[in-house]
Amino acid sequence: MKKILSEKKKSLLIGTGVLCTLFCTFFSNLSFKAYRYNKPVGHEDATAETLEFPDGFLWGAATASYQVEGGNKHSIWWEFEQEEGRIKNGDRTEVCVDHYNLYEEDFDLMSDLDLNSYRFSLEWGRIEPEKGVFDDSEVTHYKNVLKALKEKNVIPMVTLWHHSIPTWFAEEGGWESKNSVKYFSAYVQYVAENLGEDVELWLTMNEPTAYISSGYLMAKWPPGEASPLKVPGIQKNLVKAHKAAYDIIHRYDSEAEVGIAEYSSYVVSSNNKNIVENIVAYSIDKSWTHYFVSRVRTQTDFIGVHYYYRQKIRLGLIKDLFSKDAVDFEQTGLDREYYPQGLYEVLMRFDKYDLPIYITEIGVQDYHEVPRDVFVQEHAREVYYAIQNGVDVRGFYYWALLDSFEWSEGYDAKFGLISVDLETLERTIKDSSQAYADIARCNCVGN
Ligand code: FCB
Repeated sequence: MKKILSEKKKSLLIGTGVLCTLFCTFFSNLSFKAYRYNKPVGHEDATAETLEFPDGFLWGAATASYQVEGGNKHSIWWEFEQEEGRIKNGDRTEVCVDHYNLYEEDFDLMSDLDLNSYRFSLEWGRIEPEKGVFDDSEVTHYKNVLKALKEKNVIPMVTLWHHSIPTWFAEEGGWESKNSVKYFSAYVQYVAENLGEDVELWLTMNEPTAYISSGYLMAKWPPGEASPLKVPGIQKNLVKAHKAAYDIIHRYDSEAEVGIAEYSSYVVSSNNKNIVENIVAYSIDKSWTHYFVSRVRTQTDFIGVHYYYRQKIRLGLIKDLFSKDAVDFEQTGLDREYYPQGLYEVLMRFDKYDLPIYITEIGVQDYHEVPRDVFVQEHAREVYYAIQNGVDVRGFYYWALLDSFEWSEGYDAKFGLISVDLETLERTIKDSSQAYADIARCNCVGN
């Protein structure tokens, strides 16, 4: 009997050992493959002076309504910014950079930069200031914006919802509420009917994961209180909302391309040999960065990738999961690491969905260690390498066209190609933006 028991124990031990080895080998291999920087084709041996992009590639700039328009009183952000201590320096958006009134001037400057596409968002609270009440004059405003772009041969990419929700919607529970999909669908239906014929490229939503982590985990954004238990419900509603919006726009215009824009930092383990870190990094990338795209993949025409930095996971610092890595690196502002190769890696990771990709945001603040010209050139090269390796990348949208209101960071974070004097509202193209204009002009980047 004793013997049988110990035999059993033995096989149990052996079984557990085998399982552990298999598990560890799987994750260490997987992580090693996934997180190693694979030298892109042509990285070393491309001898051409310039690297040419495919015809029709879109070189654009992006903005979001709340960050540039000014006076968006029907947004929950408006309430939020009135609260003491929420926004750095107590900055406010009463006037903001007044893109709402000065958009034509901004488009003239955009044409000076030779950009052929502009990504902007519609302010839901302007269009629907009260539940079920739509303001035709606001939709006329956006019609005029689209008309001004058309006159300049600039292709619009329109985001239906970029972080700012109407106050009435927030009061109804926002994305926590099961009615959220119904409300969003009514808004999208109205927009499709009124603006549908002027737009071919749509984004249903901007960075759902960043919205959730900044609002519900870090509490830096409305609702301003950490409530992780609400996250799974919000995620589910947002997935449904994307799919509903996708169907509505396609019902209206079957040719339209409808995508989703996601915050896509390059998540890696800080130590490739640390299996636990590899597992954590892999799981975060899979269950967080790829959460939405993997769930809507059959109902999306393209993926909008936002690349800003590499995010190293170190187990010693649990806060790294949701913030920056604190080891030595050149920063791009907002404590972000400068790591252009990460863009290539992220594009390779998203390639598995076999969908076209637009880089719908990428950008750097005014920062002396990584000048904007070097930043755009180096990142553009990585896009080129990804295209060479078979990734279907169709556009690159620099964030942002203008210096703007950077959410809880206020106006200090200056990402714009164009600076704005907040007193006089005078606009000036920054010298560091010329390199991007050169890339857009020749549809190529120096090697
Ligand atoms: C992105 C947001 C955008 C802006 C940039 C700097 O995550 O989509 O609104 O805040 O970061």
